[in-house]
Amino acid sequence: MAERETPPLKPEEYDEFLVDLESKFKLKEGSLIPVLQRIQGKFGYIPKELLKEVSDRLNLQLSKLYGVATFYAQFSFTPKGKHIVKICHGTACHVKGSVRITDTIQSKLGIQIGETTNDGLFTIERVACLGCCSLAPVMMVDGKVFGHLSPDKAIKILNDYKEDK
Ligand code: FES
Repeated sequence: MAERETPPLKPEEYDEFLVDLESKFKLKEGSLIPVLQRIQGKFGYIPKELLKEVSDRLNLQLSKLYGVATFYAQFSFTPKGKHIVKICHGTACHVKGSVRITDTIQSKLGIQIGETTNDGLFTIERVACLGCCSLAPVMMVDGKVFGHLSPDKAIKILNDYKEDK
């Protein structure tokens, strides 16, 4: 597993943020997801040590916070990479070779789907149809679509991002 180390947060990094969170969401129904979205937006991931504090201050069950954060792919307990690579595994892309492309990318970067490279440059994700099936097989890097991929072409694209850093 290529899980990145996350340095512990210092209280001064989150104190003000928690006060703000408390003023906006305390005792509000249905605030679990917005609270987690705020945390993810602020830190780029969900720092586990923050959840206990959030649970105490906002009176939200810790187990529920964990449950929701684990269930939805939009939340991550580890920092994501600078570049998010989404490899399409919808039907059209699957038929045209997305498995081979995924295997090649995984082996080139040394990580599995859902993981982030140790240098923090890339996170790879598997997604369903990206809505541009005529370009299959497709991947998306930071929101930009690359189509008619081959394994070699996919690696070249990632190398270009690497060179740009
Ligand atoms: S199946 Fe990949 S874009 Fe539609």
